[in-house]
Amino acid sequence: MKDSIRHLIQQALDRLTAEGVLPAGLTPVIQVENTKDKSHGDFASNIAMMLAKPAGMKPRDLAERLIAALPADEQLTKVEIAGPGFLNFFQNSDALAQRLEAALADAKLGVRKNGPAQRVVVDLSAPNLAKEMHVGHLRSTIIGDGVARVLDFLGDTVIRQNHVGDWGTQFGMLLAYMQENPAAAESELADLEGFYRAAKKRFDDSPEFADRARELVVQLQAGDAECLRLWHRFNDISLSHCQALYDRLGVKLSMADVKGESAYNDDLPQVVADLAAKGLLTEDNGAKCVFMDEFKNAEGNPLPLIVQKAGGGYLYATTDLAATRYRAGVLKADRVLYFVDQRQALHFQMVFACARLAGFVPSSMEMEHMGFGTMNGPDGRPFKTRDGGTVKLVQLLDEAEQRAYSL
Ligand code: ARG
Repeated sequence: MKDSIRHLIQQALDRLTAEGVLPAGLTPVIQVENTKDKSHGDFASNIAMMLAKPAGMKPRDLAERLIAALPADEQLTKVEIAGPGFLNFFQNSDALAQRLEAALADAKLGVRKNGPAQRVVVDLSAPNLAKEMHVGHLRSTIIGDGVARVLDFLGDTVIRQNHVGDWGTQFGMLLAYMQENPAAAESELADLEGFYRAAKKRFDDSPEFADRARELVVQLQAGDAECLRLWHRFNDISLSHCQALYDRLGVKLSMADVKGESAYNDDLPQVVADLAAKGLLTEDNGAKCVFMDEFKNAEGNPLPLIVQKAGGGYLYATTDLAATRYRAGVLKADRVLYFVDQRQALHFQMVFACARLAGFVPSSMEMEHMGFGTMNGPDGRPFKTRDGGTVKLVQLLDEAEQRAYSL
């Protein structure tokens, strides 16, 4: 309603400008407020007072001219001048009731999207499966789910993608620990965080264990059946922890929405080969990099997007590049929204720019990083427990629930 009143006032201003009552070239910010006292109508504007001086008129006189110039509108019953020159607008409650009833009769409550419906990929939550979900995953999960629901309501086709971290060197360490003592591992996996810490301790204390862990990463990447079995077992447990949290939070995420980093493994060599074929790759100390003119570090030196390490390993960016083309080519997305904290802003800028440069996505596909801040502790840094660990999300929810009930 405020918007439509602003629009009416703007039309009156245009008319008075055309008639020479107001000087040309005024671009006032039209303020419309709710009135405190309903005997003064429902909305009020101080526009006549704001423009009295440039118009060379008394505010009340200008207010009168404005009222005369306002187009008729069935949403209003009358407009009055009050005090030093306020315009008071009285809403037509019958017209309002009619509008509300029409909205109520409509499944979408009369809410419509501006523009055509789109296929929108929402990249959200995306915890690292090696560890348990922590407080940092709350925003990506909740904001992403909230936006996904709004877009869905507006008629878009929403495709949720949970880009979980289910690949990488830490898995070698975890698999080595599982292999070492399969029976104990099964029970210890109920506490992923503890399991991770125990495996890390073995890794740090025993060079022989560390070697085995590294060997297992290689075997896992080579598709060794036993490694894959352990890896699946680990991820199933970790994902079931996530699912329990999603259910508890009431967010619409299921196992079917999981498309983790590992899902893109087969495409990674092709991503690098395609970048090479496009002439976009530069080798820097053995690493394969993409340099783009618009990305420089603080000293003004070119900043690389590294897509393959000297040892042949692929990186987070390579997986994200593969994901852009999956989302374009297979999911046929018109728009992709990434709900990831703001610290990754540069990563996404570079990935988006590179994907466009390489022609991995059509130029019409929108990609937006929907960044947000981190949950910080009293020291202003990302929230940690006293011993430097992260707070498990499950503990945070338990405590929140407990405190809410004890009020
Ligand atoms: N797993 C990542 C992390 O914890 C977030 C992934 C976000 N999505 C993406 N397409 N990169 O930092």
